[in-house]
This record gives sequence, structure tokens and C-alpha cells, in this order.
Amino acid sequence: MAYILLFVIIFIFSLLFIHRSTRRRRYHLPPGSYGLPFVGETLQLISAYKSDNPEPFIDQRVNRYGPIFTTHLFGKPTVFSTDPETNRFILMNEGKLFDCSYPGSISNLLGKHSLLLMKGSLHKRMHSLTMSFANSSIIKDHLLLDIDRLIRLNFDSWSDRVLLMEEAKKITFELTVKQLMSFDPGEWTETLRKEYVLVIEGFFTLPLPLLSATYRKAITARTKVAEALTLIVRQRRKDSVMGETKKDMLGSLLASGDQFSDEQIVDFMLALLVAGYETTSTIMTLAVKFLTENPLALAQLKEEHDQIRANKSCEDEPLEWTDYKSMAFTQCIVNETLRIANIIGGIFRVTMQDINIKGYTIPKGWQVFASFRAVHLNSDYFKDARTFNPWRWQKNSEVSSPANVYMPFGGGPRLCPGYELARVVLSVFLHRFVTRYSWSAEEDKLVFFPTTRTQKRYPIILKRRLESKST
Ligand code: HEM
Ligand SMILES: *[C@@H]1O[C@H](CO)[C@@H](O)[C@H](O)[C@H]1NC(C)=O
Ligand SMILES: *[C@@H]1O[C@H](CO)[C@@H](O)[C@H](O)[C@H]1NC(C)=O
Ligand SMILES: *[C@@H]1O[C@H](CO)[C@@H](O)[C@H](O)[C@H]1NC(C)=O
Repeated sequence: MAYILLFVIIFIFSLLFIHRSTRRRRYHLPPGSYGLPFVGETLQLISAYKSDNPEPFIDQRVNRYGPIFTTHLFGKPTVFSTDPETNRFILMNEGKLFDCSYPGSISNLLGKHSLLLMKGSLHKRMHSLTMSFANSSIIKDHLLLDIDRLIRLNFDSWSDRVLLMEEAKKITFELTVKQLMSFDPGEWTETLRKEYVLVIEGFFTLPLPLLSATYRKAITARTKVAEALTLIVRQRRKDSVMGETKKDMLGSLLASGDQFSDEQIVDFMLALLVAGYETTSTIMTLAVKFLTENPLALAQLKEEHDQIRANKSCEDEPLEWTDYKSMAFTQCIVNETLRIANIIGGIFRVTMQDINIKGYTIPKGWQVFASFRAVHLNSDYFKDARTFNPWRWQKNSEVSSPANVYMPFGGGPRLCPGYELARVVLSVFLHRFVTRYSWSAEEDKLVFFPTTRTQKRYPIILKRRLESKST
């Protein structure tokens, strides 16, 4: 019996092997290894990204096979690109040669009218609408004051020890709710956020309600969040019939010529809450972490912001757009944090047809992964790529054409619509944080799976700085 079993297993393995090598000969696939049947190299990837040093997973494969290699991840054969030109090609041909793809849990929980899942001309229309909701003139005229005010309001409620990641999430959620539908933070937003956190937890489970309690809870929570948002949408429709309009994203959706249904609007708002939440709050936390570890950079940043404050009559005087525009070193910190933290390490796509690139053929229906992380941490493109060095972004330094290799916000038809907003939020946060506090951080460690974060949510001890005015 055991012999027969062994024989069957060997037979299956050799079939798989023959199948793979014929496939490789028919298509000139990039070199690589597939790992075990079915799971492929998924477990190696996950264990690398659960550690604080995931780089060897990519480094080893690039050394062995070159910048484009084949692997097998999350149930699919995958072409993994660490080549900036190929990454750009993938992003630019979105919807033509490549389609976006999300795990079933995420697409079920997001809802079918979410921007992340839309395709074709509807996606194009909604994407440009979203871009215009958060463009620089809107931020300048409407959002900046609220961002500044809500960040200060949150700081007022802090004790002298906080979990920075938690606080950053609260701030980010409140800001997004404000921008979407003009609600100031209060009990309603906190209740909504609690449900919403359960939805996010469901993203990283298997979408099988019978097996996963987390997924079941996420579905229930999603229904509750959608109900709460639907009530708001209905009320706002009534108000707008009475001629009452508000200058927020919901207002723009209702005023746009398109006749969006309640369900469409709710899915849309939920997707924006999701897309900005983990990303912006993580980047806030990690910027503080890198500054804590780099006293020279922190000193220079403090000087820049103390100078802005010195020109104001008091701490409460709001930041203005010209102040934001004057934060030259802050922008270096922002870029360097985005580069080295890689909140979105890359993007998955599926090929819509056979694709020839760099002398290889990728078959139709295959998964490709464009790794931003691998490019951002490659010393061919950024000198000493694995060191935090904000000065590399200064005007006269020798950054080698970062425009074409630096893409923390993606690019092409799915370029992040929040790219400007995220930069402004982070800059204002840093301004208020470094002018108000000195701090020390408790020991904590970065991990990268399923999302980038620190293990203990980054506990810090805060000390109020004296309001020192040099004049
Ligand atoms: C540091 C903060 C952020 C980072 C690093 C980031 C990064 C990204 C990246 C790389 C993509 C492209 C995904 C793809 O091509 O499949 C993306 C898409 C998106 N982002 Fe962001 N993002 C950030 C903040 C925000 C914020 C604040 C918002 C809210 C307005 C937002 C809304 C979106 C949306 C709606 C999409 C989907 C676009 C589409 O599929 O057409 N993001 N983001
Ligand atoms: C920003 O979007 C608004 C519409 O929401 C538009 O009127 C304005 O021209 C846009 N500004 C820029 C700089 O693109
Ligand atoms: C401070 O204000 C003065 C005069 O209003 C201006 O010339 C100067 O550039 C300002 N400095 C900063 C750092 O904003
Ligand atoms: C930061 O990166 C962006 C590209 O995302 C670039 O346009 C900008 O010039 C960079 N800022 C600095 C200070 O180098």
C-alpha cells in the first residue's frame, strides 16, 4: 500500500515537472523556481516579510536569476519584476495588457463599485473624479485648515505615553471622514471606526465564512458601516434637493452629472477610507521612527519648523499653504520615508494576453508582481539604498533620475489619487509634532506582512517642548 502511494506521489511530481519544463520551452519564461506544488514559494515570502529583514527573499532570487524571475505565489505562477522599466510598462498598460487583481476576501469586503475593482471607461471616469477631489487647489482652499485643526485637536487629548500607530490611525480616519462628508470627530466617528477596523481585519483571511470567524465578523461589520453611510447619503440627497450643498467629496459626487446610486456612492466612500487608512497612518508612524533613529535629520527638521512657528504670533495660529510650500527639508524626509518604508511594496496584476518583454514571454492569465520595494532598495538606483538619508533628495545631490525609478504611489491609470493629500497630511503632522514635543521611543520592531507596521504599535514617551520664541 505504502509503495503504491509513494509511486503515485512520484508520478504526480514528475508529471508536474514535465508539464512545467514543456511550458518553459514553449514560452520563453523568465528563469526561476516554483517551490512546492500548490503553495509554491508563498511560505518563504511570508516568513521573510514577517521578519524585520525581508530583503533576502528578493536578493537571493535576483542574484541567481536576474532582475525578472518566475516564482509561484498565493496559488498562481507569478513573474516577479524588480526592473524599473518593466514595472513602468506594467503600470502604464493597465487595462490594456494587464488587469488589477485582489484576493477574494478584499474584493468581497470592498463592494463591487469600489474604485480599486472598477475597470474600463467607468474606472477612468471615477479615477479622474477622485483625483480632482484631492488635488492641490482643493487641499489649499479647503482641506489644509481642517487637517491642521484636527491634528492639533488630537494632540490635545494625548497623554504623555501613546501608541503612535493607534493615534495616527485615529487621526487619519477622522481626517478622511471630514473630507468625505464634513463630519467633525465625535462618538459617531469612533463607533464607525470600531466597525471599520473589523472590516480591515477580514482582508487578510480566507473568504470562507464557515472556516473563519474573523471573516464572518468582517462581513457583519461591513454591513453596519454601509448602513451608517447609506443614511448619510440619503440625508444629503434630501438636503441638496432643498438647495443645501456642502463642499466635500460626497457633495461633489452628488453634484456631478452622473446619476450614482446610493450603493455606488457607499462603496466608493468605503474604498477611499480603506485606501488612505493604513497607508497614511503607517507613514506617519515610520517617519517618526526614522527621525528618532537619526538625530541629525531630526535637528534639521526641527529648525525648519521652528522657523515657521517663529513667524507666527502663537501656537494656535494655523498653517498656511505658503508655509507648506516652504518646507523644503520636510519634503526630503517625506520622500525618503516613502522610499525606505515602501508601505505598498508593489502591485499584483494579471496578464490579459501573452506578453513579450525583455526577451521573455509571459503567458496569458499569469500573475505579475511589480516590486517597488526591490527598486527603491537597489543601490544601482539609489546610492547606499538601504540607509535612511533624506539629504539625497536635496537639489544639488546626485540622485540618479529618481523620477523614473521612484514610484511609492504607483503610476499610470491607477496612480494613487491620494498622493498629494498624503504628503500634505504627513507634512502638517510632522510640523505640529516636532514643534510641540520632544520624545523617546520604546524598543519596537518593523514587520512587513500582511501589512507594514511595528510590532508594538510604536509606544513613545512625550515631553511638551517649551514654547520658545527667538524674537
Ligand atoms: C502614504 C500614503 C499612500 C500610499 C503609499 C499610497 C499608495 C498607493 C498605490 C501604490 C496605489 C496603486 C495601486 C495599484 O496600482 O493597484 C494606490 C492606489 C489608490 N490610493 Fe493610495 N496611497 C496612499 C494614500 C492614499 C490616500 C490618503 C488616499 C485617499 C484619498 C488613497 C486612495 C487611493 C485609491 C482610491 C487608490 C486606487 C486607485 C485605483 O485603483 O484607480 N491613497 N495608492
Ligand atoms: C482641481 O479640481 C477642481 C474640481 O474639483 C478643478 O476645478 C480644479 O481646476 C483642479 N485644480 C487643479 C490644479 O488641477
Ligand atoms: C517670516 O516673515 C517675514 C516677513 O513677513 C518673511 O520675510 C520671511 O520670509 C518669513 N520667514 C519664514 C521662515 O516664513
Ligand atoms: C519627491 O518625490 C517626488 C516624486 O514622487 C518628486 O516629484 C519631488 O521632486 C521629490 N521631492 C524632493 C524634495 O526631491
